[in-house]
Amino acid sequence: MTKKVFVTHQLPGDRIHELARQCDLSVWTGPGSLSGADLRRELTGRQGLVCLLTDRIDRPLLDAMPELSFVSSMSVGVDHIDVEALTERGIPLGNTPGVLVDTTADAAFALLLAAARRLAEGDRYIRQGNWRAENGWTPDFFIGKDVSGATLGIIGLGPIGQAVAHRAAGFGMRVLSWSRSGREVPGVKNVSLEELLLRSDFVSVHLALNAQTRNMLDSEKIAMMKPGVILVNTARGGIVDELALARALDSGQVYAAGIDVFEQEPVAMDNPLLQHPRVVVAPHIGSATTLTRARMANMAADNAMAALSGQPMPCCVNPEVYE
Ligand code: DGY
Repeated sequence: MTKKVFVTHQLPGDRIHELARQCDLSVWTGPGSLSGADLRRELTGRQGLVCLLTDRIDRPLLDAMPELSFVSSMSVGVDHIDVEALTERGIPLGNTPGVLVDTTADAAFALLLAAARRLAEGDRYIRQGNWRAENGWTPDFFIGKDVSGATLGIIGLGPIGQAVAHRAAGFGMRVLSWSRSGREVPGVKNVSLEELLLRSDFVSVHLALNAQTRNMLDSEKIAMMKPGVILVNTARGGIVDELALARALDSGQVYAAGIDVFEQEPVAMDNPLLQHPRVVVAPHIGSATTLTRARMANMAADNAMAALSGQPMPCCVNPEVYE
């Protein structure tokens, strides 16, 4: 019997066309973005799901989908999915690691540089008509922080953290790292989290969001950071306490921040981080290049095709379901 698969958004790449030849594929094309109720309705009676990080796949949804036999997410992060509930049901979950590493590391570095050198603030300054003769160039005009020669602390030394370390070396930075694995990487000094926070001029977060990392950078950890630190987060919003960060920015403990990810996305306009002039924000675009998004979509389609043919997914988050 031909299996039925639901895809929650039109995907780039070419592998989605091959997937369409191998199953009865239905793709959400609107109107509007897919709501939780739409997802529940569209997924009913389907055996497979290809989803995005914006789709919440929780236990109540899975309880209502007894026929579901695989989920493939076009993302490396899977915090939008109840992995435990899937594993209990023996349902494999695919994700897309690897292909977004350099693109995301570039984005982290772009935010680091932009925050250090006040690029977004300068851009707004000009566009708002403030750069006039009476407010012209002076020796202390738009002073920022040096990147070269500074110390970067990388929290989480997986592939993206390592790619950021590689870029930092090119900028003449000293690199410290803390990771749960204690992985050794040439040119990177492993230290305790506390030492990293105390010594780093820049801190960049590269962890998955899970029960251990949620709220990891809370007010206590932020207070331990070197005064005048710049914080970059391209991982997940829930890892950093946003209110504590906003307070630390107000007090000057944190000099600036580059933030691509928020606890709630899209971010609410009253989020205090948006009020702070030294916070450079981006709308979760760490992996947003044409090539990388096509590669992610292709991996998601390949994971789905493997599951359809009864093979293990090439990138499976819960491989124990195959044991
Ligand atoms: C992911 O895949 O989890 C990333 O956040 C996308 O940029």
